Amino acid sequence: MTAVDGGAAGAAPVTGQAVLEGRDVAVHYGGIKAVDGVDLTLETGRILGILGPNGSGKSTLLAALTRLVPLTRGRLTLDGADYGRTPPSRLAHRGIARTFQTVRLLPDLTVLGNVQLGADLRLGRGARLRELVRRSVPPAVQEAIERTGVGDLLDLRPGELSYGTARKVEIARALAGRPRVLMLDEPTAGMNQPERLEVAGLLRRLRDEGLTQLLVEHDVSMMVDTCDRLLAMNQGRPIAEGAPREVVRDPAVQEAYLGKRGHRAGDR
Ligand SMILES: Nc1ncnc2c1ncn2[C@@H]1O[C@H](COP(=O)(O)OP(=O)(O)O)[C@@H](O)[C@H]1O
Ligand SMILES: [Mg+2]
Repeated sequence: MTAVDGGAAGAAPVTGQAVLEGRDVAVHYGGIKAVDGVDLTLETGRILGILGPNGSGKSTLLAALTRLVPLTRGRLTLDGADYGRTPPSRLAHRGIARTFQTVRLLPDLTVLGNVQLGADLRLGRGARLRELVRRSVPPAVQEAIERTGVGDLLDLRPGELSYGTARKVEIARALAGRPRVLMLDEPTAGMNQPERLEVAGLLRRLRDEGLTQLLVEHDVSMMVDTCDRLLAMNQGRPIAEGAPREVVRDPAVQEAYLGKRGHRAGDR
């Protein structure tokens, strides 16, 4: 079973086709140019990494791509069709899932309930009712739970989880809808090293099964090991793009990002 929806059953996913594109994407908050003229293409079965110091506009870019903030300028397309005015709730139905930089689990639901929400978002209400009638956990939810390794925690509530584990539940929730595009905003923040490696391995396996991903992370070696391409940003602007090893060696990236890695105080 692959994590990818939309292809012919059993067919190997075609890698490297443009699925989601942003052109000249800009989000300004008054005078603050949080994102200012970013071009990017997410290709099937590939991971695009976004690298940049705090405040460089990575989270705002994800918010723009998932329609949570309006574009000041630019164009968004999914499968070649403009989605610049599609409400964010509709994007889940079209197979776009994301995780947030800060944990956004519902505190009154169990781990299972939170993961199941991800499937409900994708399937809509009718399917939710059918699942309830059957009183069984849908296969996509079971698979998401297994793959993220949160199966022993299903009856706990988010407040009882470590931060790193809560992040894994967030990933499980995103996978439960069997997305075709997954965007992750610092998914391993707050995790220990074994957990980070586990998540990086999971993302690579999902990629190999054809899942298209956008990954924001500060861990440069994880980004180089995990991503097919990197886009580096500084102050809302793209400063380098290409093969991961080349991007991290780029003098502009070294200056903007690697030289400032101690500055994490403004993390949001
Ligand atoms: N809602 C907002 N209103 C005003 N400024 C914002 C808002 N969200 C983000 N910003 C500003 O936009 C810039 C980019 O922020 P962000 O996208 O969170 O960067 P990153 O994720 O790379 O750390 C920062 O200067 C931040 O303060
Ligand atoms: Mg951010």
